[in-house]
Amino acid sequence: MKKTNLFIANWKMNGSRGDVAKFIDGLEKLITNSQAEIVLCPPFPLLSEYSSRRKKSKVKLGAQDCHYAKNGAYTGDVSADLLASFESSYVIIGHSERRTMHNEHSEIINKKVSAASAAGLTPILCVGETYNQRESNQVREVISNQVRAALASESKCEHIVIAYEPVWSIGTGKTPTVKEIAEVCTIVKESLSYLGIETGKKKIHILYGGSVSDDNVAELSKVEGLSGFLVGSASLDVKKFANIINAKQG
Ligand code: PGA
Repeated sequence: MKKTNLFIANWKMNGSRGDVAKFIDGLEKLITNSQAEIVLCPPFPLLSEYSSRRKKSKVKLGAQDCHYAKNGAYTGDVSADLLASFESSYVIIGHSERRTMHNEHSEIINKKVSAASAAGLTPILCVGETYNQRESNQVREVISNQVRAALASESKCEHIVIAYEPVWSIGTGKTPTVKEIAEVCTIVKESLSYLGIETGKKKIHILYGGSVSDDNVAELSKVEGLSGFLVGSASLDVKKFANIINAKQG
């Protein structure tokens, strides 16, 4: 089984000036899991607080979204190239909050993934079903459609992270069972091999996200094939996030 070792903090629209340096300094003192790769995704203006002196840090930088165009008349948007120039190595794409609140559909998500890869960023693609879709047995269809549509042009991609985040579990305290998450990992892998993306050979990570906490991480780590977690609210507390990273991994 692949070791659980990638932990992504999604701060969403939280955090203020000065928080990035404080968080990274605090986290580095608390981390005992030497295998951990950590990515912090703060709001755009805070990306500049991650200076190049952090290059040797265990904590890498990621953004929460990017535009698919290189530049242009897109008020409020940020290009992948600009993110890369601010030391970002990762970018979250297709988070359910963007799919629903910003009407992001598969075609846009596909273009964003390509733009991120072209800029040298590792895309963190979020996929997940709603409660109604799970209740009506549509999980396989929803997940495979989302993965296939987003990565249709990425058969040669070297490094990608796919985060399974059921919409009904984000911020609700509810999580799927170990068996349900493992089933989705299998669906993701099947969708990747349909696209010619070989999960064994490349740096492909499948993560789980949705109400991950220091209370449930030990149980969630039992999922076969999972290589880490995307953490929202619990990543706002450096001690809780460190506990998640340090928890004995399955
Ligand atoms: P949560 O958010 O951990 O607060 O549920 C996860 C996410 O939306 O990435």
